Amino acid sequence: MKNSNSILIVVHFLCFSLITNLSVGGDTIFVNESVSLGQTIISSGGNFELGFFRPGDSRYYYIGIWYKKLYPQTVVWVANRDKPLGGADANLIISQGNLVLLDSLQNSIWSALAGNINPNISVTALLRDDGNLILSDVSKASMPLLLWQSFDYPTHTFLPGAKLGYDKRTQQKQVLISWKSLSDPAPGLYSLEIDPKHAQYVIKWNRTTEYWASGSWDGQQFGSVPEMRLNYIYNYSYIDNENESYFTYSLYNSTITSRLIMDVSGQIKQLTWLDGSSVWNLIWTQPRKSCEVYAKCGAFGVCDEANATCNCLSGFKPRLDRQWNSNDYSSGCVRDQKVQCNAITEDTDSSWITSIVKVPASEDTNNITVGKASQCRSACFYTCSCTAYTYDGSGNCSILTGDLYNLQQLSKNEIERTIFVKRGSPEDQTKARKSMKLKAIFSSITALMFLLIGSFSYIYYRRRMAKKSDRSKGTQGAHISHWHKAEGEAKVLMNENSDEAIDVPYFHLETILEATDNFSNANKLGQGGFGPVYKGIFPGEKEIAVKTLSSQSGQGIDEFKNEVTLIAKLQHRNLVRLLGYCINATEQILLYEYMPNKSLDTFIFDGTLCQLLDWKKRYDIILGIARGISYLHHDSRLRIIHRDLKTSNILLDEEMNPKISDFGLARIVEGKVTEANTKKVVGTYGYMSPEYALDGLFSIKSDVFSFGVVVLEMISGRRNTGFYQSEEALNLLGYAWKLWTEKAETQLIEKSLLESCNRSEAIKCINIALLCVQEDPNHRPNMSDVIVMLGGEGTNLPTPNRPAFVIRAHASSTSSSSSDKKYIVSNNQVTITVEEGR
Ligand SMILES: *[C@@H]1O[C@H](CO)[C@@H](O)[C@H](O)[C@H]1NC(C)=O
Ligand SMILES: *[C@@H]1O[C@H](CO)[C@@H](O)[C@H](O)[C@H]1NC(C)=O
Ligand SMILES: *[C@@H]1O[C@H](CO)[C@@H](O)[C@H](O)[C@H]1NC(C)=O
Ligand SMILES: *[C@@H]1O[C@H](CO)[C@@H](O)[C@H](O)[C@H]1NC(C)=O
Ligand SMILES: *[C@@H]1O[C@H](CO)[C@@H](O)[C@H](O)[C@H]1NC(C)=O
Ligand SMILES: *[C@@H]1O[C@H](CO)[C@@H](O)[C@H](O)[C@H]1NC(C)=O
Ligand SMILES: *[C@@H]1O[C@H](CO)[C@@H](O)[C@H](O)[C@H]1NC(C)=O
Ligand SMILES: *[C@@H]1O[C@H](CO)[C@@H](O)[C@H](O)[C@H]1NC(C)=O
Ligand SMILES: *[C@@H]1O[C@H](CO)[C@@H](O)[C@H](O)[C@H]1NC(C)=O
Repeated sequence: MKNSNSILIVVHFLCFSLITNLSVGGDTIFVNESVSLGQTIISSGGNFELGFFRPGDSRYYYIGIWYKKLYPQTVVWVANRDKPLGGADANLIISQGNLVLLDSLQNSIWSALAGNINPNISVTALLRDDGNLILSDVSKASMPLLLWQSFDYPTHTFLPGAKLGYDKRTQQKQVLISWKSLSDPAPGLYSLEIDPKHAQYVIKWNRTTEYWASGSWDGQQFGSVPEMRLNYIYNYSYIDNENESYFTYSLYNSTITSRLIMDVSGQIKQLTWLDGSSVWNLIWTQPRKSCEVYAKCGAFGVCDEANATCNCLSGFKPRLDRQWNSNDYSSGCVRDQKVQCNAITEDTDSSWITSIVKVPASEDTNNITVGKASQCRSACFYTCSCTAYTYDGSGNCSILTGDLYNLQQLSKNEIERTIFVKRGSPEDQTKARKSMKLKAIFSSITALMFLLIGSFSYIYYRRRMAKKSDRSKGTQGAHISHWHKAEGEAKVLMNENSDEAIDVPYFHLETILEATDNFSNANKLGQGGFGPVYKGIFPGEKEIAVKTLSSQSGQGIDEFKNEVTLIAKLQHRNLVRLLGYCINATEQILLYEYMPNKSLDTFIFDGTLCQLLDWKKRYDIILGIARGISYLHHDSRLRIIHRDLKTSNILLDEEMNPKISDFGLARIVEGKVTEANTKKVVGTYGYMSPEYALDGLFSIKSDVFSFGVVVLEMISGRRNTGFYQSEEALNLLGYAWKLWTEKAETQLIEKSLLESCNRSEAIKCINIALLCVQEDPNHRPNMSDVIVMLGGEGTNLPTPNRPAFVIRAHASSTSSSSSDKKYIVSNNQVTITVEEGR
């Protein structure tokens, strides 16, 4: 057998003959040469660079490889990922036949080769243009031997041309392991590896618990994951021979920059770089739902997919506040308050915390059959290891032990089941039991002590509270005065830059603070795309919606000015009216007419509220939205492309008239121009048209696409994204198309609508919506056409073509009847694109 760490493979001689005279600064490190801080080597085509870097806000240094041409720096490989360098005085050097990282004391921190090394051979390290760092024995110039390559030791990135696999001879697996955090490349909890037995990818938590599998590779695609299939961008392949099994992929167009990563979120992501842009675009991600990531919210955390966040189970609080608040939930939650002793030793109502959440099915769950709920409760209470129980009312009792992971917020249509969690932890209970006898003896003494401790801590507590309230008063005052100062500066800024006058009044911050009771939670209406929205009562009992745009939102002064000047000019009954604005250095504020009924999505996606919108109302809303967009596109003096149409941006007034809002991303295009290009693709997952998502090309037709999605959502009561039929992975567009081709489109109509629904009108709307979401923008109608079609009989409508993002699963099904045609979502045209990072 071969020496295990040096699988010798012949490398092209050509590579080496070309680079003989280059030194550091070129693409190669030669014998006795080193790279120190500030020095790098760059691959011959200028794609990749190797050197020292500091990730995020870390103070440590690492050796890494990153894209030379992309900013911000994107690291694809890290040498010493779990051995950070404290000081800058370090060297990466070729010495004694090995590539070694030495710290300032000449200690070896990391080396490429391990085991028996021949120190006499001549070795070079070459950074290739595909991002691979290769260490070769060049003693025989005619036949360089590969000793080691970084592609065999990936960190969290899988580059085109690299492989992810399993070596049958050494039993070694190549595994992608997530970073611990964005500023710590040390191995985190999530890993992507291959399962050679089933020729599939799997994602594991803590190297052990598998929580996602791609399904077997069938030569075309992975199991039920339509995104991961052969298509015109990616050439995926699976190689299985006597020595190894591995996956690899390449790009048909090598000018595209793409990578697959095991992300800190526990999801794998295929990202591409939009040329000229400065963001990575997400092509697809798996698992699709972030709540499917194992232990995403840690122990006793509850995952909320809709709001993309984690909450602690009631009665619990984050274990580590700072981590939790920076969206790292892995440390989970702990019990919030000290438990009354008798609640631990006696089964009373205060012994239990009740919550309504979705409890994961797990093999650790003990299922017993009991007659009554009280028996289930006792069974849990008197089992020390029991943490919680659930009872289904028909005799099924589940006893959960240990820390609870993977709890999820219930979404609509899910069966409600209450979980009862013990207020005391199992340890508390064991301790309490043991000390019961002792307590009986010393009860009088302890009672006295409790009294003393109690009164002391009460006095202490009172003092602290008094101090605290003093302090908090102090900071609030300071906060406000700081605001005023900043406000003055920003106002100057605003006026200097504005070349045109703004038609709406400026409001002073004091007025707004007063009207919203200092932005109190009680006045919060909801969360907009860029910041919270509050209700304000202005002098004269006038109700106004106050939209704050926080600085972290990414909306800069430019976007703000854009929104203010733009909306001030617009007057249409289906567009929300701007009443005023306010600006300071940290916050920008817009005042809108107040919409008592919030946004469309709060109605149509809610099981009970949706009944308030019968077919007639929905039809009127669809018409209203169409009129509003048509005004933007065709009727106002300016041609405006909204770019972020979605149900949450459609507000409803007291008569349920729709009003389009959120013009933060809108663009004006001049005169007859109907399309434009952007370097920065922004918008919302699920509503973006393919040409906009992939090429940054936006036009009035991309708004038409979003309108089509909104209409389908209104008719079906389901969201376009996050909606998948159980057996076949379909998004709403795919599902609607499938029903349409089967002439079963009435199945799309939400149940609560069926009664009030005028079927021919509904079918007309589905037809129009499908016309709007067609793949080719030129086939989509204008909004003015849409209004005509909506007003017409619906008999002579064009037949829609296949929508974007839907393709036929099996090309071979051409001959088959329509009943066994299968359509799936795919990234044939790239599924979904959202902006990453922020
Ligand atoms: C590299 O350094 C070692 C020790 O300093 C020396 O023996 C060796 O000759 C050097 N090799 C080359 C090619 O300069
Ligand atoms: C390396 O060279 C030294 C001196 O020439 C020799 O003693 C030693 O055996 C060589 N080592 C190997 C592994 O060939
Ligand atoms: C991961 O597994 C190891 C044992 O393999 C265990 O010691 C460690 O606690 C686990 N980590 C977490 C976060 O549970
Ligand atoms: C796709 O990848 C396979 C395996 O790497 C390769 O043999 C094939 O030539 C590639 N196809 C194209 C069109 O590049
Ligand atoms: C497997 O390894 C052996 C020995 O290393 C080699 O001779 C053979 O060509 C390899 N087979 C393949 C398919 O690469
Ligand atoms: C590759 O993509 C670039 C832009 O990303 C394009 O200009 C070029 O025409 C493409 N090449 C091929 C062969 O498709
Ligand atoms: C989460 O979203 C739901 C609607 O999906 C909303 O009712 C709820 O208030 C949100 N919770 C938080 C904490 O934002
Ligand atoms: C208990 O029931 C759950 C879900 O019904 C199941 O996943 C689990 O395997 C069962 N546990 C045992 C020990 O049978
Ligand atoms: C309760 O248990 C019975 C029998 O074990 C089973 O048939 C039934 O499906 C269970 N109900 C639920 C809601 O799990």
